[in-house]
Amino acid sequence: MPLAFMSQKSILSMIFFVCLQVQQYLEPFQLSEANLRDVSARLSKDLDLGLGKNTHHRAAVKMLPTFVRATPDGTEKGDFLALDLGGTNFRVLHVRVVEEEQKVLKMDSQICAIPKEMMLGTGEQLFDHIAACLGDFLISQNLKGQTLPLGFTFSFPCEQKEIDKSILIRWTKGFNCSGVEGKDVVKLLKEAIRRRGDYDIGSVAMVNDTVGTMMSCGYKDQSCEIGMIIGTGTNACYMEEMRNVRRVEGEDGRMCINTEWGGFGDDGSLKDIQTEFDVVVDKTSINPGVHIFEKMISGMYLGEIVRLLLVRLAENKLLFKGQTSEALRTPGTFETKQVSGLENTQIILTKLGLKWNSVDCGVVRLVCDTISSRSADLCAAALATITNRIRTNRKLARLKTTVGVDGTVYRKHPKFSEKLRATVRRLAPECDITFLVSEDGSGKGAAMVTAVALRLAHQSRLLEDSDGEVREEEKDK
Ligand code: BGC
Repeated sequence: MPLAFMSQKSILSMIFFVCLQVQQYLEPFQLSEANLRDVSARLSKDLDLGLGKNTHHRAAVKMLPTFVRATPDGTEKGDFLALDLGGTNFRVLHVRVVEEEQKVLKMDSQICAIPKEMMLGTGEQLFDHIAACLGDFLISQNLKGQTLPLGFTFSFPCEQKEIDKSILIRWTKGFNCSGVEGKDVVKLLKEAIRRRGDYDIGSVAMVNDTVGTMMSCGYKDQSCEIGMIIGTGTNACYMEEMRNVRRVEGEDGRMCINTEWGGFGDDGSLKDIQTEFDVVVDKTSINPGVHIFEKMISGMYLGEIVRLLLVRLAENKLLFKGQTSEALRTPGTFETKQVSGLENTQIILTKLGLKWNSVDCGVVRLVCDTISSRSADLCAAALATITNRIRTNRKLARLKTTVGVDGTVYRKHPKFSEKLRATVRRLAPECDITFLVSEDGSGKGAAMVTAVALRLAHQSRLLEDSDGEVREEEKDK
């Protein structure tokens, strides 16, 4: 009987019946609490491997030292430039840090699109484009001629040698520019600026977006010691005890570690929870075998997982009366913003050229909810691993901490943050976590890192000077 002639009750029972059959396809995506605890225990081991002096080079979770040793103390100030590269757009910002008001103000900013061809072109083209955007911005802001310090948020895994020396380990998230992997990104930026020769920049601080996010929230809330991104990609950083950072000299204090948790599973450790659809998403990506955890979680991939599942359900006659469409069979046509339910499911299905009824719509929503729920659960397991680690590091019975968060999936998905928080509470019951959504974290945070680095350099110069004075006085005696 056509649905139009069926009562609401019959439609509901039909949805229920179909959902029961669909459920067997969704089951592998529904991780139990025991599964999540197990994932967390594996990640915990991987964090140790990444930090270890003799194990880090083959660790899947890279645990990269950032050379950020201090969070803001509220005395930072000044004007900064910030660059933010990590998604499809590139942004340039002019940021002012005002000490008296403990505020980071965005004076102005400009977005430059990065065309898809450029994401896959040469590194020189990419950096020339960045330098050109920065040049235009300086003119528009009347800043040409000044040499402001610059924070560069570069949201890819980098082996940081110093705050201004950062070697790209590998591209992620759809970027694959030639001649950049293995090179110092600060040097490439400076070379591009030199090629133009019409402006200059001051000292540079390189920052991962997670670090920028943590630092921008840290100015407001000094207990912010974790930064997390769930957007196009996913990752987190946190303040680790120096004594555990075996690759960097020194035992005292803490250093921010960029975990690069997106790489969790790259050594095969997540094979048992990867579904056949995750395997296809990985194999057909531009970087197969790399960033397995990210591919189960982040915005760049959620839509594709859903699309593959919908095709399978249609093929098995559980959707669209067994019909698919050209659009549905084309990779990349189901976007993550559609997974979140922000767009009306009926409009999406019509746009995809599908003939649907209300039962189909119900099933599509169920699929989307299941995939985004798994993403939130996996992120929660990873975050709980970090908060539990910080608590154990500090031998605390309870940890009170703040996580600075950013990323479109976390911000825009109506149920994501709630689900994530609920799961973290179950997996880390001894941690009281406040989530602070960062406003413009990667831009303002980069400026903040630069400001803290300058403050520390200034303080150590003052210390050296006063040491000098003491030595002079001793000589006089
Ligand atoms: C990158 C990280 C970044 C994350 C979020 C990942 O693909 O490897 O460096 O923090 O995306 O943008």
